[in-house]
Amino acid sequence: MTNAVHVPLGTRAYNVLVGPGLLDRAGEKISPLLARPRVAIITDETVGALHLEALLGALGGAGIEATCLALPPGEATKCWPQLERCVDWLLSEKIERRDVVIALGGGVIGDLVGFAAAILRRGVRFVQIPTSLLAQVDSSVGGKTGINAAQGKNLIGAFHQPSLVLADTDLLATLRPRDLLAGYGEVVKYGLLGDAEFFGWLEKHGSALAAGDSAARQRAVTRSVQMKADIVARDETEQGERALLNLGHTFCHALEAATGYSDRLLHGEGVAIGCALAFELSSRLGLCAQEEPSRVRAHLRAMGMKTDLSDIPGNLPDAQALMALMAQDKKVVGGRLRLILARGIGAAFVADDIDPAQIRATLSDALSARG
Ligand code: GLY
Repeated sequence: MTNAVHVPLGTRAYNVLVGPGLLDRAGEKISPLLARPRVAIITDETVGALHLEALLGALGGAGIEATCLALPPGEATKCWPQLERCVDWLLSEKIERRDVVIALGGGVIGDLVGFAAAILRRGVRFVQIPTSLLAQVDSSVGGKTGINAAQGKNLIGAFHQPSLVLADTDLLATLRPRDLLAGYGEVVKYGLLGDAEFFGWLEKHGSALAAGDSAARQRAVTRSVQMKADIVARDETEQGERALLNLGHTFCHALEAATGYSDRLLHGEGVAIGCALAFELSSRLGLCAQEEPSRVRAHLRAMGMKTDLSDIPGNLPDAQALMALMAQDKKVVGGRLRLILARGIGAAFVADDIDPAQIRATLSDALSARG
C-alpha cells in the first residue's frame, strides 16, 4: 500500500508517494506528467549500478524512452563543473521545456539535478526518486536545489519544486547501516521539532526500523514527509517557520566544516549531534526541563548513533573556533546568529537573542567531555 502526501503549493503542488515497490511502478506514476514519452535520467554511478536497470524497465514497460547520465558519487559532485555537465548534456539530448528530468539518487543528485532543471530553458519539470533515507525524508521534498561553493555548502541554488517524488522504501535496504542511521538523524529531528508523539513512537520502533521493518520505515518516512510538507506549504521560501527544519543544523554545519566535510562526520550524524547540543543549550538557558536533553541523547545512543562530540574521531577545534564556524551559517541575519531551540521535545522555535557566552559554554562542556 502506497501513502500519498500532498504538498499544497497552488500551481506548483505535487504528491510525495511513499511505500515499497514504487520504483517498479515509476512508469505508470510518471506517465501522466509527460507531454511526449521520453525522459532524461541523471543518477550517480553507485546508485545507477543498483537501481537504473529497474527504473529503465519500469519506464520501458509504460512505453517511455529514457536517456541517462551517471555522475561520480559523493558531495564533491555538487559543483559548478558537474552542473555545467548536466545542463550541457540535457541540451545535447534536446530536452525541451515541457519534458521531465528524473533525479535518481540521494541528496547530492537531487539537489544538483533539481538546480539543473531549475535553470535549463528557464525551468523544466523534474521528478525526484530519492534513494537514501535522508533524501526521502528531507532533501527531495520542498524544492531546495543547489550546489556548494568554496565558501560553503548549498550557497548557490534556487527554489524549484519537483512535480512528483517517488520515495520507494524498499530502496533503503541497499544502504550501508551507517548511511541509514545518518538519515535517521533527520527523522528524529522531525519528532524533536514538532511532534512529541512521533518521537515517542520512534523510541519504541526505531530499532525495528533500523533492522529493516518495512511498515516502520514507511510510517516514519510518511510522517516526516507530512511534517515537512505542512511547513513548506506555510513557508515555502523560508521567511520564518521553515527555519525550524534546521534544528541541529547550525551546530552540524560548524562540525562538518571543522571535520573538512569528510567521512569523519556524515551530514545526518552531524544533525543528530547538533540536535543533542540544541537541547543541551535550551536546557542551560532554562527553556526546557533538564530531562529533555538526556532523553534525546538516550534515544540516539540506543540507536547506536553518534550522539556527542566524543563520537567524532580525530581532533576538533576549540569552542571559540566552532563559534566562528557557526557564524558562517545562512541563518545569520545582520551578523546575529539565529538558532533553533526548544521548549521541550516537539516544541522547537526560532531564537534570535541567544547569549553567545551560553553557546560557547555549551560547546566547551561538550568538548571537555571528550576527555
Ligand atoms: N532541509 C531543510 C529545508 O528543506 O528547509
